[in-house]
Amino acid sequence: MDKILVTGGLGFIGSHTVVELQKEGYEVVIIDNLSNSSINVLDGITSISGKKPIFENLDLRDRADVEAFFAKHNDIKGVIHFAASKAVGESVKEPLLYYENNISTLVYILKELKKLPEASFIFSSSCTVYGQADELPITENDPVKKAESPYGNTKQIGEEIIRDTCKVTPSIKAIALRYFNPVGAHESVNIGELPIGVPQNLVPFITQTAIGLREQLSVFGDDYPTADGTCIRDYIHVVDLANAHVVALERLLKNNNKANYETFNLGTGTGSSVLEVIKSFEKVSGKKLNYKIVGRREGDVISAYADTTKANEELGWKTKLSLDDAMRSAWNWEQKVRKDK
Ligand SMILES: NC(=O)c1ccc[n+]([C@@H]2O[C@H](COP(=O)([O-])OP(=O)(O)OC[C@H]3O[C@@H](n4cnc5c(N)ncnc54)[C@H](O)[C@@H]3O)[C@@H](O)[C@H]2O)c1
Repeated sequence: MDKILVTGGLGFIGSHTVVELQKEGYEVVIIDNLSNSSINVLDGITSISGKKPIFENLDLRDRADVEAFFAKHNDIKGVIHFAASKAVGESVKEPLLYYENNISTLVYILKELKKLPEASFIFSSSCTVYGQADELPITENDPVKKAESPYGNTKQIGEEIIRDTCKVTPSIKAIALRYFNPVGAHESVNIGELPIGVPQNLVPFITQTAIGLREQLSVFGDDYPTADGTCIRDYIHVVDLANAHVVALERLLKNNNKANYETFNLGTGTGSSVLEVIKSFEKVSGKKLNYKIVGRREGDVISAYADTTKANEELGWKTKLSLDDAMRSAWNWEQKVRKDK
């Protein structure tokens, strides 16, 4: 079976994708520098799949190391590139760190892929490229808006770099996947989301509050023009998201792609408000969550959810898991993590 490189493969989405790739029989090589993950994730992956992926602890910002890696693994057929820094607030304070980690690493990998006779490349992009879209649900043809943060900008620039490269390099086929809001954990609870420090995202903040690690969840604004006044997002179960990577990769490996650079939205197609997410959590956990409504947070878009038609029809992929499934697995994962500490 083909050998696939997964950069950032010990991270949240990467680890779930490694498991799904292994399930389909791919040989997986992970690159991760452990800057936002733990080496224990390797055991978590192995305990689910029964197969230990090859692991290279290297920093993709080191060009020489990246070159040496591809010289050693010259039979790589595809790359799924998750490795990046992802904290929006931090990116505002440390833009150069974000441009270096998210852009230079991408360039180094593409330079190596250019040397191969043929390569398939999947890029982790984000719905942040759309900003506050003029129309909902958001389709892939909606305009990319000026980025609100250096992090968002790295995703836009990353997409442009790949598009420009593919235009003149027919041997590289690429897909940028624009994720909406990945949540949840593997049902085995052997892998899940492991935020370092205070979580930036709603779901880990909910589970950490419920377990007593955080005192209270702040809901930023209930006076938005939505049904219950809170912001709306499209929460996609990480296992569904992981599956979409395998499907997208196979589209490229089997030459089923329609162009050598394509973009797809990955979401459920349904928007859920912050209060609906809290309700779902309370239902599946049987716990009352301590939260309070506070003022709006700067930079939050009001509502974003995906039009999934293109992914459904072109990739033949659909989400299977619900918000309740995601909240249940996230809660089971939180309890397991705290018990193990
Ligand atoms: N989680 C989300 O909400 C979300 C939404 C949209 C897009 N994305 C994108 O998806 C990708 C994966 O996100 P995630 O949530 O799994 O993040 P994560 O932080 O859990 O995983 C990223 C992994 O990459 C590794 N890494 C970072 N820089 C590296 C480097 N220079 N060399 C080697 N390894 C490096 C980290 O140690 C980590 O294990 C990122 O590109 C992110 O921007 C995430």
